Amino acid sequence: MAEIVIVTREAPIATVQLNRPEVRNAISEQLMDELVKVLAGLDGDDTIRCIVITGSDRAFSAGADIKDNFVNATPVTMLDQDLTSKWEAIRRIRTPIIAAVSGYALGGGCELAMACDIIVASESAQFGQPEINLGIIPGAGGTQRLTRTAGKYVANELILTGRLIKADEARAIGLVAQVYPGASWLEDAKALARAIAEKPPIAARLATEAVDLAWNSTLDAGLEFERKAFYLLFATDDKKEGVDAFMSKRKPTFKGT
Ligand code: COA
Repeated sequence: MAEIVIVTREAPIATVQLNRPEVRNAISEQLMDELVKVLAGLDGDDTIRCIVITGSDRAFSAGADIKDNFVNATPVTMLDQDLTSKWEAIRRIRTPIIAAVSGYALGGGCELAMACDIIVASESAQFGQPEINLGIIPGAGGTQRLTRTAGKYVANELILTGRLIKADEARAIGLVAQVYPGASWLEDAKALARAIAEKPPIAARLATEAVDLAWNSTLDAGLEFERKAFYLLFATDDKKEGVDAFMSKRKPTFKGT
């Protein structure tokens, strides 16, 4: 049987491809468990410095598996799945994660992209939170992360109508960092990952943690964390290497120490 999550290690980057094409990469319980396992493994591997999560040309992910998860679901079965801890596990991955989206990123698929550190998209990408059409609302961060990204008025319009937006509009509302051509989107996303993987990994991890805090705390608490993380980095070999390289006009090589 084909793997539902395909991992390709090309150190210093790794690509994690969702692989349920017959259901547009809908997120079943099994897919979620596998994804959490795979990401935890990569996060523990020091040779991997940036992770790309992707799907296929046609779909990043069409969201929660409606047949598997919703048809006979009750509040109790939903609680039993313990989705919160699984989404939390993805959020806690310290290695920078890029969501490389082509085709549909809907519902939980859009929420998965938003749980990553950077979202890039092919021209064909379409994002949306269509849960309202099923009589429900986003349940894995959509109402919170989309609102923090696009603001209350845009988020409400998208969530209340279930309207899909294309890559350019997603970029205009701040959801997408870069839009790449349809022929090269995955290679372009990997090139971005390789560029990030060349940076000092301890600084990269602390940077994404600090950026997340800007969503999740007061300005004072965020500034406090940033200042301490900034000071902490002065104890690393990579800070010495970066400054030495600048002074001697050469390219730095960062070791992650
Ligand atoms: N869960 C389960 N199955 C899904 C799915 C999902 N979220 N999204 C798509 N599929 C299945 C379809 O039921 C279909 O199965 P079938 O071949 O047995 O009929 C197959 O994937 C292909 O989907 P189809 O709709 O024919 O493909 P499409 O390319 O024309 O359209 C979508 C793709 C994603 C626009 C459409 O399938 C869709 O709207 N899916 C639901 C999205 C959604 O509401 N997500 C939020 C869930 S909370």
